[in-house]
Amino acid sequence: MTTTNQTLAAQPVPSALKGLRVKHTRIAQVMNELDTLIYDGSQDSILLVCGPSGVGKSTLARHMCDSALQAAANEMGTDAGVIPAVYVQAPSSGENDFSWRLFYLRILEQLEGNLEMPKAAFGIDADTGRLVRPRGSSGNSLASLRTAVERALRARGTRFLVIDEAARIIRQTRGKRLHIQLDTLKSLANECGTQMVLVGSYDLYPLVSLLGQLARHTHVLHFERYRQDNDADLRAFRACVQKFQDVLPDLWGQQLMQHAEALHENTLGCVGTLSAVLVRAAKLAQQAGGWTDDALRRALLTEAQRQQILEEILEGEAAINPGLTRTMPRATKAAKQRDGKSEA
Ligand SMILES: Nc1ncnc2c1ncn2[C@@H]1O[C@H](COP(=O)(O)OP(=O)(O)OP(=O)(O)O)[C@@H](O)[C@H]1O
Ligand SMILES: [Mg+2]
Repeated sequence: MTTTNQTLAAQPVPSALKGLRVKHTRIAQVMNELDTLIYDGSQDSILLVCGPSGVGKSTLARHMCDSALQAAANEMGTDAGVIPAVYVQAPSSGENDFSWRLFYLRILEQLEGNLEMPKAAFGIDADTGRLVRPRGSSGNSLASLRTAVERALRARGTRFLVIDEAARIIRQTRGKRLHIQLDTLKSLANECGTQMVLVGSYDLYPLVSLLGQLARHTHVLHFERYRQDNDADLRAFRACVQKFQDVLPDLWGQQLMQHAEALHENTLGCVGTLSAVLVRAAKLAQQAGGWTDDALRRALLTEAQRQQILEEILEGEAAINPGLTRTMPRATKAAKQRDGKSEA
C-alpha cells in the first residue's frame, strides 16, 4: 500500500492533465465554422469568437493556429517566409489607454522570424536584429509600426491573425480613437488579405455595435458551454469526463464518471473549468495518497464562485442569443407562390 502511495505521490499528475487537450464536440464545431469562414477573398474581415470564461477559447485559438501551421507545412518547407496564422494576446498596459504600439510590436515579433526581407523597413535594427522605434518623428511612429505590420502580414502570406483577450481593446480605448483603431483592424484585413479573429468572453460582444458600419463585415461565433438541458450536450460533456478519467486510471480508477453529472453542474459545462477542477482534485488526491471523493469535493468551485460565473454566462447568452438564434427572414409572398405554398 505504501509503495502504491509513494508511486502516486511521485507521479506528475497535474502536468499529465495540463498537457492533455481533450478533443471535444464544441471545439470541433467552432473550429469547423472558423475553417469554413476563413478563405481568400472573404468579406468577413473580422470574426468574433465569444464564450464563457473557462470554456476553452484560448486553447481553441492556439490549436487553430497550430493546425494552420501544420496544414501549411509543405508550403512552409519550400518558402520559409510563409506564416499562415499568428496568435497574439491583446496587451494589458495597466493604464487607461490600450497600447496599440505594444500590440503592433507583438504582431511584428511573431512575424519577424528569419524572413529575408529588409528588416530596417520593420523598424528592426540591422546590427542587433532587435525591434527599434522606426526612424522619423515620434508622432509618426505608430503609423510606421502599422505600416510595418501591414507589410509583414502581406509578406508572410498570413491568412488569419488571432487576437486573444480582445475585450481589452474595448476596455482600454475610448471614443473616436476606438473607431479609428477598429477601422485599422478592418483595413489591415482588407489590405493584407488577413482575417482578424477576435477572441474573448462575453464582454467582447458589445464590439459588434461599436463596430457600426463595420458590422456588415463582422461575423460572431458563439463558443457555448455544454448545457444541462440538452441531451447531445450532456453526452458530449460526459465524453470529456471519460477522457479525463482515462488519462489517469491509476489515480482515480473508474471513480470519476459516477460524478460526471455533479461535475457538469459545478463547472457549468465549461471544459476549461472542468480541467481546472480535475487538476486540483488530482493534486489533492495525490497528497492524500490516493483517490477520495473528498478530494474531488474540495476541488469543486464554491457555490459563490459558481453563481458569479453563472450570472456572467446568463447575461452573455441573453445578449448574444438574439443574434445567434437568427430568425429566418419571413418568406415573401412571391417566394411562397413560387414554392407552391398558398397563404393560410
Ligand atoms: N479541450 C481541453 N482539454 C483539456 N484541457 C483544456 C481544454 N480546453 C481548455 N483546457 C484547459 O482549461 C484551462 C482554461 O482554458 P482556456 O484558457 O482555453 O479557457 P478560456 O475560455 O480562454 O478562459 P478565459 O475566459 O479565462 O480566457 C486551461 O488550463 C486549459 O489548458
Ligand atoms: Mg482565454
